[in-house]
Amino acid sequence: MKKLRFGIIGCGLMGREFASAAARWCHLPGMTSRPEIVAVCATRPTSFTWFTDNIPGITQATTDYRELLDNKSVDAIYCAVPHHLHGEIFCATLKAGKHLMGEKPFGIDKTASDRILESVAANPELLVRCSSEFPFIPAVQRIGRMIEQNLFGQIIEVNAAFLHSSDLDPQKPINWKRMVQFNGEYGCMGDLGMHVCHLPFRAGWIPNSVRAVLTNLVQERPDGKGSMVPCETWDNATLLCDVAQQETGVVFPMSLKTWRIAPGEKDTWSIEILGTKASARFSTKNPKRLEWMSYSSGGEQIWSILDMGHETAFPSITGGIFEFGFSDSILQMWASFLYELEHRQPLSRFSGCATPEETAWSHRLFTAALESHKENKVVLLAE
Ligand SMILES: NC(=O)c1ccc[n+]([C@@H]2O[C@H](COP(=O)([O-])OP(=O)(O)OC[C@H]3O[C@@H](n4cnc5c(N)ncnc54)[C@H](O)[C@@H]3O)[C@@H](O)[C@H]2O)c1
Repeated sequence: MKKLRFGIIGCGLMGREFASAAARWCHLPGMTSRPEIVAVCATRPTSFTWFTDNIPGITQATTDYRELLDNKSVDAIYCAVPHHLHGEIFCATLKAGKHLMGEKPFGIDKTASDRILESVAANPELLVRCSSEFPFIPAVQRIGRMIEQNLFGQIIEVNAAFLHSSDLDPQKPINWKRMVQFNGEYGCMGDLGMHVCHLPFRAGWIPNSVRAVLTNLVQERPDGKGSMVPCETWDNATLLCDVAQQETGVVFPMSLKTWRIAPGEKDTWSIEILGTKASARFSTKNPKRLEWMSYSSGGEQIWSILDMGHETAFPSITGGIFEFGFSDSILQMWASFLYELEHRQPLSRFSGCATPEETAWSHRLFTAALESHKENKVVLLAE
């Protein structure tokens, strides 16, 4: 078993998710390489306790990411820090010669994204990928195979969404993800957008244009210290894109919704693809359920429903009939990163982690969406 020695920069919610996934690597009996976490970095030393209590083998805990990047025993970095730090830390990681799994949105804005992409181009020997786990859900893997097999015919429409609801509560205190200086001008698009774009972009559905409507519904929030402060990030973004299908050149509409204020939707990621020969839809609201329809001329139009089990890209010890969850998708995504590093290519088109080029496309789209909303117009993206 080959070992890839990791440093984690950012020991919050996602830093712990990765460490937990690495700790149950034995869940994936087919893997021939595994991650070993040897170093951690966060701003507050109190964040280290959970790691050092639970992960044997950590030999460095530092509040300075540069010290971690100087550590010769670290091969790769997982960087899960607030968005305003992505540009600086991702570029420094590549300059230090470490492979990188970076969190979305892969730069706070398009300027940071451009900088990161330049660093990626300057270090072609390093594997650089963006964390995005939803395509690893079994039903979504199945939809990916349908796309690969070109089963949909002419695409009629694609609707992708990632909806959250907790910001409906105006008393929810503000945090860095709701502050422009840390989260960026994109607001909800920066936070949720790459999750929505990953599968469509991997399918080759790159927008030619966008018309966006953005809303800031809750304009101030408690600061957690007894006062109210402005909350200036976009809560909800609805993007209507036009996309030309590569095989036919025929244009179809694609809607991308990233909402933090979607009543009743705790954490709902969904995809719907309507085509002339087949259609499919999936939502994490019903995490086992895959719905699809095949159609041929004169035939009935019947939606089929299938309960998906633990049918994963990377084999798991979990029985095939059992449910798949969020932490399983994180584990699969990490398996994909290690597989790609070892084999220099993903296992399949839809079991590969999001690429820097896909993140760059998302930045072009979100930047155009900001302009579209501001100017009340359709913005062209095509080169
Ligand atoms: N893939 C997903 O499903 C998913 C889910 C949530 C968040 N995220 C992304 O993960 C990233 C982090 O989000 P989170 O929810 O884990 O945030 P968090 O607030 O829980 O954790 C952020 C961590 O970054 C550390 N940090 C801040 N400044 C630092 C610095 N200068 N040097 C080193 N560490 C520093 C903090 O100490 C903290 O440990 C963001 O990019 C976010 O968009 C991804």
